[in-house]
Amino acid sequence: MTTSDAAAAATAAALHHALGDEVDVLVTLGSGLSGVADVLTDAVSLPTTILPGIPASTVPGHTSTLRYGRIGSLRVLTQVGRVHLYEGHTGADVTRMVDAAALLGAHTFLVTNAAGGLEPSWTPGDVMVLRDHLNLTGTTPLLGVVRDGGPVFVDMAEPYDHELRALAHRVAADTGLSLREGVYAGLLGPAYETPAEVAMLRTLGATAVGMSTVLEVVAARSHGLDVLGLSTITNVHGDGVETTHAEVIEVGARVAADVTRLVAGILRDIAA
Ligand code: HPA
Repeated sequence: MTTSDAAAAATAAALHHALGDEVDVLVTLGSGLSGVADVLTDAVSLPTTILPGIPASTVPGHTSTLRYGRIGSLRVLTQVGRVHLYEGHTGADVTRMVDAAALLGAHTFLVTNAAGGLEPSWTPGDVMVLRDHLNLTGTTPLLGVVRDGGPVFVDMAEPYDHELRALAHRVAADTGLSLREGVYAGLLGPAYETPAEVAMLRTLGATAVGMSTVLEVVAARSHGLDVLGLSTITNVHGDGVETTHAEVIEVGARVAADVTRLVAGILRDIAA
């Protein structure tokens, strides 16, 4: 077993001990979406700091807490807040919770993030379902990982499951929320994009840009999990438009109730 898989196994063992059970769905939520966990029954909270291999987040507004509970018989682990590459962590650190959940039996990964819109017609506060992504971080959580005697060559032909995407659209329509769909470009950050980078990303076919998610999705696919990704479009890039962390947090908070309702509805449908 390689170092990162051994670290994930240690995280999974500690998580299993703390939960006393396995996991069906991992939900990784951007900050401000902690309300999703309120729909869980018999919920328990645990700080990620009790788990080996999970670094503490250094970003204001990104507290990292786990809540575990049930929707019907579905065992759901929610992670509010996450660590990012730009904090100086490795790809394997960033994805360790995904690896651990997979080792505890998770079959589905639901991931949300904040992203900058690249489509001029979009508005801050829009919500996008990820159809695909561009991993432009220059790294992978699978760096140096050996499984079954070799490197992990993961099929990425359908990174985001088409049935889960259709489900997201159905639930959104039922709750009166209109959803965008598009391609998320995952960059290292933490600088926001220059006008030339925005132009490049549009040329590459990206409709939104952010600093998370893509590595977690690579890790999830490497374990065979079905993935659904949702972006809150917190800002839209345009000529002379500045991007600030405060705006990202503010718009994220404004849309949090809608995204929370959407994620909760999706989970209820998966559980049904
Ligand atoms: N760029 C990168 N990450 C982001 C952005 C952005 O414009 N908005 C929210 N997260």
